[in-house]
Amino acid sequence: MSELKSIVNKIVSSGKGILAADESTGTMTKRLKSVNVESTSDNRLNFRNILFTSSSMKTCIGGVILYDETIRQENNSKKIPEIISQNGTIPGIKVDTGAKVLANSSEEKITEGLDGLRERLKDYYNLGARFTKWRGVYSISEKYPSKLAISSNAHALARYAALVQEAGMVPIIEPEVLMDGSHSADICFTKTSEVIKKCYEELISFKIDLAGTILKPNMILPGSNSDQKISSTEIAELTLKCLKESVPNEVSGIAFLSGGQTEIQATENLNKINLMNKSNFLFTYSYGRALQQSALKHWSKNINDTTGTQDVFNHRAKMCTLAAKGEWTKNLEKN
Ligand code: 13P
Repeated sequence: MSELKSIVNKIVSSGKGILAADESTGTMTKRLKSVNVESTSDNRLNFRNILFTSSSMKTCIGGVILYDETIRQENNSKKIPEIISQNGTIPGIKVDTGAKVLANSSEEKITEGLDGLRERLKDYYNLGARFTKWRGVYSISEKYPSKLAISSNAHALARYAALVQEAGMVPIIEPEVLMDGSHSADICFTKTSEVIKKCYEELISFKIDLAGTILKPNMILPGSNSDQKISSTEIAELTLKCLKESVPNEVSGIAFLSGGQTEIQATENLNKINLMNKSNFLFTYSYGRALQQSALKHWSKNINDTTGTQDVFNHRAKMCTLAAKGEWTKNLEKN
């Protein structure tokens, strides 16, 4: 088995998933503000370090995505990537530099970060990272995502993936079709399928070793302002159909983003997807908000309560890992 494929397996097999703790300082500031905590470098580190030293890191979390600030931080003279790897978890790093306005399509975005990437990747490898993340972002409306946004983001994702594999790391390919809007789940299906197919067209033309990648897609859901009521069975059906038709078989690891779903919705839908999965794909989670929200709320009330915060996080991680094996039930949830 190739080195890259064995990294993929360590991250996503046996019900393990990914903790996405790679919020940029701007996004993390928003999250901390929402619970009335000041966004200082120490506070950002302290909260994240509580998660990284939780017992569920060993049992549930195969990989952690870090932000540039965090991968360089230390706690008690121990480097953060070292704290993560001592549990057998693999440190990863977000390497894009964010989504900017796409010229000539002012309401759409193109993700940047290719300039100097080869050199930055060497640095991240030396700091301990073995996988990376790049997020393309697409919004849905009558005219969007446009062909221009779909093809330019796919091209950037493929150039990124090629550089990451050259540097000996696993690229997470994240084309996120946002939930914002009042569109139906069928529209989300059509647009997401188009986006993912274009990504693989580019990845294949850049000769990417697909077995050495992880796809991080959105689930197929109605827009957050839509009135459509849809069951987790329908969500799972549409999501499985979309991925079966758009993702080549060589891709083994698929780790969903939570994208604004509640913790329980993201868990329930992942569980249903795994119960209904008849393919060889391994479906797990790469959640940010759906793993951290309750823990952050708890911590914000008493930032010295490490054990209590870890209990909340451990519960969420355990529920997500059960869902990644199709073994979750609602009555396992605490109220
Ligand atoms: P959410 O699970 O909060 O959507 O975050 C995942 C992520 O990494 C978005 O890029």
